[in-house]
Amino acid sequence: MSITLTDSALAEEIRRLARERDAVILAHNYQRPEVQDIADHVGDSLALSRVAAKATASTIVFCGVHFMAETAKLLSPDKTVLLPDPDAGCSLADSITVEEVRAWKAQHPDAVVVAYVNTTAAVKAEADICCTSSNAADVVRSIPEDREILFLPDQFLGAHVKRVTGRSNLHVWSGECHVHAGIDGATLRERVEEDPEAELFIHPECGCATSALYLAGEGVVPAERVKVLSTGGMVEAARRSQARKVLVATEIGMLHQLRAARPGTVFEPVNDRASCRYMKMITLEKLLRSLRDGVTEITVPDDVAAKARTSVERMIAIGSPQRGGE
Ligand code: 13P
Ligand code: SF4
Repeated sequence: MSITLTDSALAEEIRRLARERDAVILAHNYQRPEVQDIADHVGDSLALSRVAAKATASTIVFCGVHFMAETAKLLSPDKTVLLPDPDAGCSLADSITVEEVRAWKAQHPDAVVVAYVNTTAAVKAEADICCTSSNAADVVRSIPEDREILFLPDQFLGAHVKRVTGRSNLHVWSGECHVHAGIDGATLRERVEEDPEAELFIHPECGCATSALYLAGEGVVPAERVKVLSTGGMVEAARRSQARKVLVATEIGMLHQLRAARPGTVFEPVNDRASCRYMKMITLEKLLRSLRDGVTEITVPDDVAAKARTSVERMIAIGSPQRGGE
């Protein structure tokens, strides 16, 4: 007979097992609220990479998706890195293969390759430097003006970075995240018309990022009310916000941290169906099993890891997580 534990009993057992295993629990901002609440650290990709790099615990349990656990393993090769569900993938990371990167590089042999952190370790190994949504523009600015850049795989983040840096020699791969691509300009315009006084927090992976800046340019929304931010940048902006209402264009898991950061403000999703099924694969039950049985351990082959680590470490050395996007 199987016994079903309540969430609080599960949480207690998870904490006990984490102590017993000497594990630190990291959770991305898109995780289920109950998983965020039990984690030692909640944050965006860059912040969690930094925590993973400095972790003193012998095990890192990554409540996120596969590429994030791989990145933690690259930065902490001597630690055990566990992903509670090995099927937690990412449609954006799947939008470019290592063979496609090699073929693109062959067409632009002198270009610097910038890979968004939402890529496999094998793709990172082909890149010169990685970036996340919170430091992409700083990473691009760190590259000499006269060098061509291949930016992969996200077309919307690429377009945003091209705009804010003014780089004309930046080529962008046409990949996308199925969740963010679904938050489109038409939906955003509708929501803005319903709530013309609201502030807008937009993740640069969104299909609507360009439309948001267009709406600002047209004066439909005052420019100071449109903020293009990483998920970590959104939490910081929420703490500072004086707005009565904020419309949030990203995965809906984000609302949990935003509402906790500023209880007096109303945070509403631009698209309430924008849920990442990969992020939601991690449950308290799977987290408990992960800690109890040591599953699923994430490994990266040594030759791939050595090259991919260099790209990630170059990124970690650049950019400021405090700025949280542009
Ligand atoms: P952040 O780097 O802003 O946390 O975004 C990660 C991600 O997967 C967005 O979908
Ligand atoms: Fe990947 Fe999109 Fe899910 Fe982020 S929200 S993990 S980019 S599929």
